[in-house]
Amino acid sequence: MTDIKIKTASSESVVHCGAGAFEKYAKKHKGRVFIVTDKNVYSLYGNLMRETFGSEAVIKVLPAGEKSKNSRNLLSIIGAMAEAGVKRNGLVIAFGGGVVGDIAGLSASLYMRGVRLVQIPTTLLSQVDSSVGGKTAVDFGKIKNLIGTFYQPEEVIADPMFLDTLPKRELNCGLGEIIKYGALDGEIYEKLCKNKDRLYDCGFLGGITADCIRHKADVVRRDEHDLNGIRKTLNLGHTTGHAFELYYGRRPHGEYVLIGMYYELYIAKRKGVCGGEYSDNLISLIKKIVKVPAYADIENSAVLAKHDKKNSDENISLVVPQSEGKSAEIFIGLDEYIRLLNECGRSL
Ligand SMILES: NC(=O)c1ccc[n+]([C@@H]2O[C@H](COP(=O)([O-])OP(=O)(O)OC[C@H]3O[C@@H](n4cnc5c(N)ncnc54)[C@H](O)[C@@H]3O)[C@@H](O)[C@H]2O)c1
Repeated sequence: MTDIKIKTASSESVVHCGAGAFEKYAKKHKGRVFIVTDKNVYSLYGNLMRETFGSEAVIKVLPAGEKSKNSRNLLSIIGAMAEAGVKRNGLVIAFGGGVVGDIAGLSASLYMRGVRLVQIPTTLLSQVDSSVGGKTAVDFGKIKNLIGTFYQPEEVIADPMFLDTLPKRELNCGLGEIIKYGALDGEIYEKLCKNKDRLYDCGFLGGITADCIRHKADVVRRDEHDLNGIRKTLNLGHTTGHAFELYYGRRPHGEYVLIGMYYELYIAKRKGVCGGEYSDNLISLIKKIVKVPAYADIENSAVLAKHDKKNSDENISLVVPQSEGKSAEIFIGLDEYIRLLNECGRSL
């Protein structure tokens, strides 16, 4: 088990990660806590929640999936917190994947101007990425994460035992974020290349999860509020991934991140930013996990990348891998972006 501390200007949090973390750290929160979870997680772990947090815990169960990350559910959580009598020193526990973590985190940050928050991530994606760093959000209209706050959990309990019940496709989504960290961090990249045939091995996943959290913790310490360009690197692959996700919306988020990374790697190669064995290795890791589709309607989906928060003026901002441990931000016009995405699709 590893403890990773994240101290920022405004807060201090700790991530307990590894086997046994839930057993060791969750029990101390037994009592009048307010738990947010989703239907799938509740059906698997509802009994464990009751045993661990006791009969006084109030449990709000949302439908599963990205569609639940909306303003209606946000207000319904806040309403349920008021009804349950949650006080200013109350504790919200986000018990689930990234969807639950994002909406529960936002609710905790808004209710009475902020109550305590603990994240118990149950998907690989939420363990390696979304539960750490304090970004909370719901989607609004056609825009992902439009309404959100920065709000650090006081504690994250990331225990791999929850991954035993996770469908392989959801495990793949977490691997997508892990490969993103590989494109940002030389050591993680080396480990991925050396272990490319062990990507689903529990021992390997346990170690690499802690490495990704360490990388993210370091980024968050240096740029908590995404102000000086460091945190922006974590969006590698996301500009295009989010645009496809918003337009097509049929796959889990993590698969779109992988697909976005593939298309953006192609653009980086064509722009001469990245190439050689390094990009070939990243491409082969991506292809091990997802079959990258050639989209028919690139024009209409790519236009949605214009909403990306990183953009400046009319240009699309992409964070792309450059070389081991190094990424670069490139800006390209919408016409060129569409042309290169189409070219990438035809090459598949
Ligand atoms: N805040 C951040 O910094 C950040 C970073 C990355 C992604 N995100 C957000 O995270 C979300 C995606 O998270 P996700 O991939 O965890 O999706 P998710 O929360 O929808 O979970 C995926 C599926 O797995 C199920 N599930 C969860 N835990 C399970 C378990 N232990 N066993 C079996 N099934 C389980 C869920 O019910 C759901 O059907 C997106 O909304 C994305 O925007 C946020």
